[in-house]
Amino acid sequence: MTLHSTAFGEAPGKVIITGEHFVVHGSLALATALDKIVKVGARITESNHEVISKTSGTSFKIRDPEAKGTFPSLKTIERTLSFLGSNERVTITIESEIPNASGLGSSSAVAVATVAAIMRLHGKDIDRQILFDLAMEGEMVIHGNPSGVDVAVAIYGGTILFKRGMVPKILEPDPQLELVVGVSGIRRKTSRMIEMFAKVRAETPHYFEAMVRSSDSFTRIAAEAIESGNIEDLGAVMNFYNSVLSYFGLGTKDTDKMVDICLSAGAVGAKITGAGEGGASLLLLHHISVIT
Ligand code: PMV
Repeated sequence: MTLHSTAFGEAPGKVIITGEHFVVHGSLALATALDKIVKVGARITESNHEVISKTSGTSFKIRDPEAKGTFPSLKTIERTLSFLGSNERVTITIESEIPNASGLGSSSAVAVATVAAIMRLHGKDIDRQILFDLAMEGEMVIHGNPSGVDVAVAIYGGTILFKRGMVPKILEPDPQLELVVGVSGIRRKTSRMIEMFAKVRAETPHYFEAMVRSSDSFTRIAAEAIESGNIEDLGAVMNFYNSVLSYFGLGTKDTDKMVDICLSAGAVGAKITGAGEGGASLLLLHHISVIT
């Protein structure tokens, strides 16, 4: 490794098909990787850690120590270097195809790609559990109490069944199923939504726990449906989740309208995905025959 050599890491964004928010409290969640990725380049520098983002529309440069502790990528850099026992300074360059703050897992993909790039820079093998633990440190700066589902998808790719504290189960979706994502363009803060759910839990704990158990069962049904190609069951579970998430205050007039338009256009299921409240993207499910 020389001062000027660059190592790269890549990770995909994600959509949550079922179980968002409830997964923070112990439910299963079903999630799948997007075909949009983040690429991070890492190189050793002489002065301070630096984060350069070349993502379209959000180009910026942040230097340590001004943002110390408050900027997730700097936290990820620090934790990874400390894991490696290194006191070097690192510059990372982020190139992302994933819209940020839209529920598509861009921050997790950045965190995972950053850890991977720094590990490679040091010629280290990338162990998935270590990658997960280090990437979660950066995620905690942004989301407070994230479940880790976004980070898990960014690491494993494909479609996974995730539960806190467990190794994700990799599913084999029926190739006939097609999911389409729409982005509302309204950005929001996931941590605020997570706090909103925690408040409902504090106010009505028994009801909340029952909902977490229901989410676990419905997600299991959705996982079976995705593997067997049971589009009706998958669509039914997705539609049900949309109502539940709306009940918890995560829907907006715009997302309700998007869901309605999609269903009227022949989607079998349509829902908010991720943290919700407008910025959330929308997930649709079509019969291939409807599309072609
Ligand atoms: O990354 P987002 O905004 O799609 O939200 C992540 C999903 C949540 O379930 C809302 C939070 C979490 O940590 O699981």
